[in-house]
Amino acid sequence: MEIDHLGIAVASLATAVPAWTATTGTIASPEEEVPAQSVRVVFFPTPGGHLELLEPTRPDSAVGRFLAQRGPGLHHVAFAVPDVDAALAAVERRGGRLIDRTGRPGARGRTVGFAHPSAHAGVLVEFVEGP
Ligand code: CO
Repeated sequence: MEIDHLGIAVASLATAVPAWTATTGTIASPEEEVPAQSVRVVFFPTPGGHLELLEPTRPDSAVGRFLAQRGPGLHHVAFAVPDVDAALAAVERRGGRLIDRTGRPGARGRTVGFAHPSAHAGVLVEFVEGP
């Protein structure tokens, strides 16, 4: 599997985007709200894997709780897969721990599904359908 992106939880896109723009020299995508995950996100297009910044829209969301408990930082690693449902089923067959059994709507109009962070030292794993 190829890495599609790294997801970084931030308290404020307004603060984080200029900082990451300065560091990477790339321009972020327009902000997109993902209601299914209660986040607003931007993507920095970098070759070999994008950076996603996530700002929670609600404090009681998964990313909101992550920020409250652990502070800003690496939130998830996302792998590109041809079929999210098949990728999740394969994780389960191999004895891994899932959050989702089937895909759900994610950012950029793509289907996503998650494996549980407790299985990987607190790092959430996302599967993203498509190239
Ligand atoms: Co992501």
